[in-house]
Amino acid sequence: EIQELTPLKDTLDVPVGVAIDSRETTGVASELLLRHFDQITGENYMKPEAWYDANGQFRPNPEAVALMDFAEANDLAVYGHVLVWHSQTPAFFFQAADGSPLTTSEGDKQILRDRLREHIFNVAEWLATEYGEFGGTNPLNAWDVVNEVVSDGSEYDDGLRRSEWYRILGEEFIDLSFQYADEAFNDVYAADGTDRPVTLFINDYNTEQSGKQGRYLALVERLLARGVPIDGVGHQFHVSLAMPVSALEQAIRTFADLPVTQVVTELDVTTGTPVSEALLIEQGYYYRDAFRVFRENIDELYSVTVWGLTDGRSWRSANGAPLLFDDAYQGKPAYFGAVDEE
Ligand code: XIL
Repeated sequence: EIQELTPLKDTLDVPVGVAIDSRETTGVASELLLRHFDQITGENYMKPEAWYDANGQFRPNPEAVALMDFAEANDLAVYGHVLVWHSQTPAFFFQAADGSPLTTSEGDKQILRDRLREHIFNVAEWLATEYGEFGGTNPLNAWDVVNEVVSDGSEYDDGLRRSEWYRILGEEFIDLSFQYADEAFNDVYAADGTDRPVTLFINDYNTEQSGKQGRYLALVERLLARGVPIDGVGHQFHVSLAMPVSALEQAIRTFADLPVTQVVTELDVTTGTPVSEALLIEQGYYYRDAFRVFRENIDELYSVTVWGLTDGRSWRSANGAPLLFDDAYQGKPAYFGAVDEE
C-alpha cells in the first residue's frame, strides 16, 4: 500500500520524471510512480547497446517497447536517454569489419558517421512508426542526444572527453549527433512544423562544479555559434550532502542567458554511510532547498528527473540512501522536503 501523499508532480510546473526499469512498471512500485511522477526515463533501456541483438543487428529493444507502452497506457511523458555516449555502446561501432579499431582515415571516419546516422534514424523511425507524431500522440518528446562528452580534467584545450567517438571524429561527432537527430525528428517525421517537436539536449555530470561547468559552457557556446541544432542543456546533478545547493542554482544561472532550455536529468543526493536518521533529515532539507531552486528557476527548466524511485534501486545506494522513497515505498524526509511540507 502506498501513502496518500501530495503528488510530487503537482508541486512543480514542469514534468517530474523518474528513471525506471521493468521493476517499476508493475505492483506497488508502479502505483507509487504513477502517484508522484508524470515522466519516465529508461534507466538503461534506450542506451546505444540496448538496440542491438547478439548479431549486432538493430531491432526495437523489447524493454524499450514495454516502457513506451507503459507510458502510453498511463499518460506519462518519456524522456529519451541516450542516443550517443562513450559507455554502454557496442564495441563494433568503433571497429572495422575485421574487428580492428577504426582509424582516423577519411574512409573510416565516414564509416562511423554512417553508423551514427543510421543509429539515430533507426531509433527515430521506430518511434515515429509505432507511436505516431512527435508533439502529438508520441509520448517521447525529448532526447539526451550526447551524454558526458566533457572532460573531467582541464588537460585538453577543447575540454572534451577522449572517447572513441572523439578519437575517430573529433569534436565533429557532437555536431553530427545533433544534426542527424534534428534531421530525423524534424525534416523527416514532422516536415510540416517549424518547431521541431522533439527537444534535443546535451547532458553531463558535475556541471555544478566550476571546472567542468566552464568546459561545458564553452562547448555549448561553440555549438550555438556554429548553428548546431541544440535546444537544451542537461544537468545530471548526482550530488551528495557536501555539495551546496547554491552550486545547483549557480549551474542553472550560468546557462540562463543562452538561447537554450535546461533540464535536471538524473538527480540523486547521497547521504554518506552509515545512513542515520540525522543524515536523512539533513537530506530532507537538501531536497527542500533544491526543489525551491527548481521552482524559482522553473522558466529555465524542461523537466526535473530523479534517478530512481526507491533507495535500494539506486545505482549509488552504496553511498547512502540517495532518493525520495525508501524500499517500503514510504516517503522519506527527502520526499517531504521536495514537496516542501514539514
Ligand atoms: C547508470 C544506471 O543507473 C545503471 O543501472 C547502469 O548500470 C549504469 O548507468 N550517468 C548516466 C546514466 O547518464 O545513464 C547512468 O546510469 C548514471 C550516470
